[in-house]
Amino acid sequence: MKRASILATFLLPAALAAASGRLIPVSTLNTMLLLEADSVSAPYILYYGPSVEGDLSQVSLSAPEGERIGAYPVFGNYPEGESALSLTMPDGNMTLELRPAGQPESAVNNDGNTLVSIPLADKHYPVAVTLNYLAYPKEDVIETWVDITNNGKKPVTLTRFESGMLPFRSTDAWLASLYGTWANEGRVNNERLTPGMKVIQNKDGVRNSHTAHAEVMISLDGKPSETSGRVIGAALLYGGNYRLRVNTDDHGRHQFFAGIHPEESAYRLMPGETFTTPRLALTFSDTGLGEASRNFHRWGRQYHVAHGTEVNPILLNSWEGVYFNIDEPKMAQMMQDIADMGGELFVMDDGWFGRRDDDSSSLGDWEVDTRKLPNGIKGLTDEARKRGVKFGIWVEPEMTNSNSELYRKHPDWVLKAANRDIVEGRGGTQLVLDLSNPQVQDFMFNMVDTLLANNPEIAYVKWDANAPVMQYGSQYLPADRQSELSIRFHRGFRSVMDRLREKHPDVIIQACASGGGRANYGVLDHFDEFWVSDNTDAFQRLGAQWGLSYFFPAVAMGSHISAVPNHTTFRVVPLKFRCDVAMTGRLGMEIQPRDMSQADRDFCKAAIEAYKGIRETVQLGDLYRLVSPFDNRGVVSLMYVNAPKDQAVYYWFRTNNDYSAPLVTRTPMQGLDPDAYYKVTELNAIDLKPLPYEGQVFSGKFLMDNGLEMRPNHDLEWGKKVDYCSRVLLLERQRLTPPYNEGSNCR
Ligand code: GLA
Repeated sequence: MKRASILATFLLPAALAAASGRLIPVSTLNTMLLLEADSVSAPYILYYGPSVEGDLSQVSLSAPEGERIGAYPVFGNYPEGESALSLTMPDGNMTLELRPAGQPESAVNNDGNTLVSIPLADKHYPVAVTLNYLAYPKEDVIETWVDITNNGKKPVTLTRFESGMLPFRSTDAWLASLYGTWANEGRVNNERLTPGMKVIQNKDGVRNSHTAHAEVMISLDGKPSETSGRVIGAALLYGGNYRLRVNTDDHGRHQFFAGIHPEESAYRLMPGETFTTPRLALTFSDTGLGEASRNFHRWGRQYHVAHGTEVNPILLNSWEGVYFNIDEPKMAQMMQDIADMGGELFVMDDGWFGRRDDDSSSLGDWEVDTRKLPNGIKGLTDEARKRGVKFGIWVEPEMTNSNSELYRKHPDWVLKAANRDIVEGRGGTQLVLDLSNPQVQDFMFNMVDTLLANNPEIAYVKWDANAPVMQYGSQYLPADRQSELSIRFHRGFRSVMDRLREKHPDVIIQACASGGGRANYGVLDHFDEFWVSDNTDAFQRLGAQWGLSYFFPAVAMGSHISAVPNHTTFRVVPLKFRCDVAMTGRLGMEIQPRDMSQADRDFCKAAIEAYKGIRETVQLGDLYRLVSPFDNRGVVSLMYVNAPKDQAVYYWFRTNNDYSAPLVTRTPMQGLDPDAYYKVTELNAIDLKPLPYEGQVFSGKFLMDNGLEMRPNHDLEWGKKVDYCSRVLLLERQRLTPPYNEGSNCR
């Protein structure tokens, strides 16, 4: 939504080019990507790291000539190497030879970010390639992408089209990536890069982050650390099939490539047409993973998450509470209950349209089921208004069922290969609509647009997508464009979202895709948040939200309190622990409040009230990860600090109650102002007697040097004791003048 527009264009100052000997710096406040151009060949990437002070030729002189790595290697000469771009010319020639085709240009856009474009062209054929590098100074992020233009008279076929390539050198480089599956999203995998090719890919077609993720962290100085070592973060902004590759040789030279997955995706580039790759965002930190994540979070919130700089309402979603059994009285009751607990929004999930009593029918038949909702959506928005909460609704616009009016009317609108039977998914009948077809795009747009236009009080849409592409084939695309289906499907999706956002900029939209299948910056500019996982078990969420926090800010992660036994793991986690975990993200509820005791509802009410006091810090503040669930240390700990460092929230969860587990009961905090003084207040406290430091004041320096000792069990009456313990501490800057009794309450 906030894609930058370029205001002014100017050539790189001649003085700069001359003084630095054709060096092209792409600079942020603290980092620099340095390219070197020469008059006969395509540019090289010389350097990516901390800003270089003084004469840039230092970098050039320090890089032996044989080590110059082409910024965007193309297939052709020396084909044994890895390339970022390959194509077939109209005459069958499969080689490319790129040369400079003019001066690099630099332009500052109205957000103050600088785009450097380097025009190249084939030496013989009318194919032009522009390398783009957009620097976000304040966020220390550089986006890169490529425009490939066919200036000839006949089509050229693209067979590989990476967004970018980054070389790096390290004999002890580690790759952190996310993996998982349904109900197990966001797991972190760390591995040393060894000679050969490491590939991370997703070919689901729709839900591109359930399994692998299109983002990685590369630690250059050995095993990843949160606080030390050089780290390159990379995120591909693409909602479709992708492939990330790291090619490593036997001397610690690596090339990282990222782009649209080229398999079965040959693209015919027509005369005059430009193919623009998705963007690849890079960030660099020389103080470990934590800073790289915070860079992504700041950049994401500012530019690539819809309404990413605004706090979000606390909601109740009906799914785990009533599943498909919705009706007017139940919806009204849930609205009342969330309103009574201090919530601000109620979301009606699946089951409100067609004859949708289970998952085997009706997707595409977006008419209210008046058996369940005799007064329609209007009846519900009226009820919501009466109760002072906003209203949200679930849709799954890209899908249909073979058992639906839509499919009976338009069997040609679903993905299907010629002469093959349809392949059906969820409920035994789910089908994917063919988004490469403009008629289907219009149908989707009109459906959501009409729903929102007719019901202006809909404040929130949960946009789901519960199937992969199950059969490769378009009934719309001609024979010679079948291989473009994946690419055109995602263009279609983006085009629908562009149109919807143009007309409905303020609606909050959640990207759900069977849980966490749509956690990607290629869609989040249109979506406010993603649903992390259908697994709402608090333990599982500690891991999933931790992993996803490598790249995504808390404001983008739906994090809900749900029932026990949990509907996926059947684990029984005490309500306090569930609330504390949910309060590390974008708080909501996913439960039937009527099934809760009054005491539990009261607890949630107080937790919601407390969350309102920290919501801005959690959703928009800086995250510091302290003890990882993936290190199995029996404890998980993290904290958020707001930008002025006035408020911080510290979380500590005990995840192992085995007496043999050495507990990390004290962790130095991070991110505070060392010179400030902070008052400590425990939130969601349940202990009979307060923590020894309750209400006490500590210096930021003391807290960052020492931390606070956690009482590892809840001090409860006998019979009420539980085998779980969690703490949420609010730290508030005190305006009073020191000295304080520093640390006197700590061991
Ligand atoms: C998917 C989502 C759930 C819920 C159901 C409804 O599984 O992930 O949250 O919305 O669909 O059918």
